[in-house]
Amino acid sequence: MSETAGKHILGIESSCDETAAAVVTAEGRVLSNVVSSQVPLHARYGGVIPEIASRNHLLAIGPVVDRALAEAGATPADIARIAVTRGPGLAGALMVGLQHAKTLSWLLGIDLVPVHHVEGHITAILLEDGGEHPHGPLEFPYAALAVSGGHTSIYLVRRPGTYLLLGVTLDDAAGEAFDKVARLLGLPYPGGVHIDRQARSGNPDAIAFPRPLLSGTPRPDFSFSGLKTSVRVHVEQAAAAGRTLPLPDLAASFQEAVVDVLIRKTLDAAAAHGAADVVISGGVAANGRLREKIVAKAAAAGIRAHLTRLAYCTDNAAMIAGAGRFGTAVSRSDMMRLEPFASGQLAPPVGA
Ligand code: KG4
Ligand code: ZN
Repeated sequence: MSETAGKHILGIESSCDETAAAVVTAEGRVLSNVVSSQVPLHARYGGVIPEIASRNHLLAIGPVVDRALAEAGATPADIARIAVTRGPGLAGALMVGLQHAKTLSWLLGIDLVPVHHVEGHITAILLEDGGEHPHGPLEFPYAALAVSGGHTSIYLVRRPGTYLLLGVTLDDAAGEAFDKVARLLGLPYPGGVHIDRQARSGNPDAIAFPRPLLSGTPRPDFSFSGLKTSVRVHVEQAAAAGRTLPLPDLAASFQEAVVDVLIRKTLDAAAAHGAADVVISGGVAANGRLREKIVAKAAAAGIRAHLTRLAYCTDNAAMIAGAGRFGTAVSRSDMMRLEPFASGQLAPPVGA
């Protein structure tokens, strides 16, 4: 495509309820990272309403992109590529970011790179200052847990741009389970962070919730819908018996079950595929207990755990710009045929 003098990557993200734009250098240094959250608009419904999300992306996208450029001290002439989330996510929400990126790319003659949202999550740690490394520097290959409201999967990252799917959830994403259990416990949306807070003063051993798919032969896939039901049954039975359960204990016990499963599966997958490093990413990777426990458990297993920096766990565009360094730009004619996709994995399963 066209030659530009620019060196930076402009990232655009609109897959769910955050309108985000960021400018990142070719080396992965984050010059700006602007996130406009719609959480207050959706909170009263207890979940994201797709139509409301699309409409608000439409209002926010222009100002958010302008702000990302301004905060980076950049003009379009400094931008070599525009990286945009193509999917997975809400189709209408994705369309807004994608169309904005296509329009800028077309009119300014800047290369466009479509990015898979999960590639953003699992490579956010490769941004300069993108992670915490309690056991030393990150090495390839690493097993990356992508754990958010929409995804729970483990990928083997052989090198930037080369991924294999090691495991995936068979039903709910872990973040979805956090949000649904929070709702059940009367906590606000999105509930993950509220469960995290409540759990800090609770006893994780108070209630022995199941650890789904953890017993027997190690298997790389997850299931969280049964655990969610188990919390509901527990709460209903207590209510029927006239007992009230301490919220912190319920939150801590549920959280511990999720955290135990996420950690064991990630460490097992790393060991099975010769990876000495694991990375946690995505919104649920912001969970305090998961961060603390995986570091200890990994060390005990001779594996180095790396934690995506909090600012890059929940949805943001710096991770999309960062991943845009590894992808291929689309041609001007292909660009106009580019549509969002609502679902689909980043890479094929190992052995496929
Ligand atoms: O990555 P993200 O912003 O969006 C998706 O791609 O889905 O993740 C949002 C999810 C929500 O389910 C939210 O409840 C969860 O991440 N989350 C947390 C925490 N912070 C956010 N879950 C557990 N503990 C947290 N501290
Ligand atoms: Zn996400």
